[in-house]
Amino acid sequence: MAEPVKKGLEGIVVAESRTSLVNGQEGKLVYQGYPIETLAENALFEEVVFLLWNERLPNRAELENLRSAIAQGAVLPQGIIDQMKTYPKNSNPMAVLRTVVSALAFYDPDSEDNGVEANRRKAIRLTGQITTACAAWNRIRKGQEPVGPRADLNLAQNFVYMLEGKGPDQTASDAINVYLVLLAEHGMNASTFASRVTVATGSDMHSGIVSGIGTLKGPSHGGANAEAMNMFLEIGDPSNVANWFKTNIKEGDRRIMGIGHRIYKALDPRAAILEEHARLLAESSGNLKWFQIAKQLADTARADSYFIERKLYPNVDYYSAIVLYTLNIDVDMFTPLFAMSRVAGWSAHVMEQFANNRLIRPDVTYTGPMDLPWVPVDQR
Ligand SMILES: CC(C)(COP(=O)(O)OP(=O)(O)OC[C@H]1O[C@@H](n2cnc3c(N)ncnc32)[C@H](O)[C@@H]1OP(=O)(O)O)[C@@H](O)C(=O)NCCC(=O)NCCS
Repeated sequence: MAEPVKKGLEGIVVAESRTSLVNGQEGKLVYQGYPIETLAENALFEEVVFLLWNERLPNRAELENLRSAIAQGAVLPQGIIDQMKTYPKNSNPMAVLRTVVSALAFYDPDSEDNGVEANRRKAIRLTGQITTACAAWNRIRKGQEPVGPRADLNLAQNFVYMLEGKGPDQTASDAINVYLVLLAEHGMNASTFASRVTVATGSDMHSGIVSGIGTLKGPSHGGANAEAMNMFLEIGDPSNVANWFKTNIKEGDRRIMGIGHRIYKALDPRAAILEEHARLLAESSGNLKWFQIAKQLADTARADSYFIERKLYPNVDYYSAIVLYTLNIDVDMFTPLFAMSRVAGWSAHVMEQFANNRLIRPDVTYTGPMDLPWVPVDQR
């Protein structure tokens, strides 16, 4: 008798991990012992990266060393920039990022070395290079020259600087830093699982991160932040929320993007933090419209029995869409920004997988036909 299939691997525990705890019933997220609320309020993204890779917070010198190593490692080889300039300008930025990260392996002196130190060096370089690639693509596709990273900036500041070619603006880089901290790691999410499956075959860090990027791209995962913003744009005005909800959700078969989660059956703690940041940013920008649409739609869903029964709450992608839009980030760059952060978690998991590896190879229940007779091709 075959085992019953757990569709979507729901509830299947595939590894022990020391990186993060996601408590879906209570709506808690903890990185290496630190509640996400504490980290969002206090941590520089690089502090979180150090924490995820070392299981402890850095002292000042260690933090400065990592910040500096990431900033210096963030430079893209000229060959990558030349190649990016040949890509079709309307390419999906996540597809560009996936290709760039794959190609970065050609230039990485450690690309085929899976040793502990080599993996650490690659994780540092990839953390910086993904940010540079995101900013560079956003400029290249608009016909602007890419701007390289500055060795004196932290990653959030460098992103804003490389995107704009000036600054960096303090408010924007502080908001990006919080965003990066919040999205850095999240248990055995789909893209992290994909990264671990890839390297568990003995493949390499770049391949693992490419798998993560390809998996994050989907609208059920990281792609939901852009889809949520497109939904808010479609609604267009707070006065349209009730009618949009009725037509598209109650009478239609659409989902509210940025709502619902496989693990969280309570409010995603990251959504609570981002809601507050979205509100503050919207207030200071003088344009509250998009925040109001999001808030009204979330409140409408939360009061609806369908959403109450299924315990569907806003997830991290819901209000992060408002944060990024208010910062004037292009909507199709939202998911690449997610990747800029999550590379920290992917690489932590890749290193954890290598430290105690066994091939990840689940089974399947065959439901196809059996014992068919062979019919020659011209008789079929
Ligand atoms: C995240 C997500 C993929 C989780 O999927 P899952 O754990 O497989 O849950 P399911 O797709 O089985 O959904 C469970 C039920 O809730 C409903 N549901 C889930 N998310 C919903 C949403 N955003 N809007 C409306 N209904 C939703 C499903 O229709 C299903 O109802 P049913 O039991 O009557 O069939 C899902 O909630 C979703 O598609 N959300 C929107 C995309 C999104 O925000 N993704 C980012 C996640 S961080």
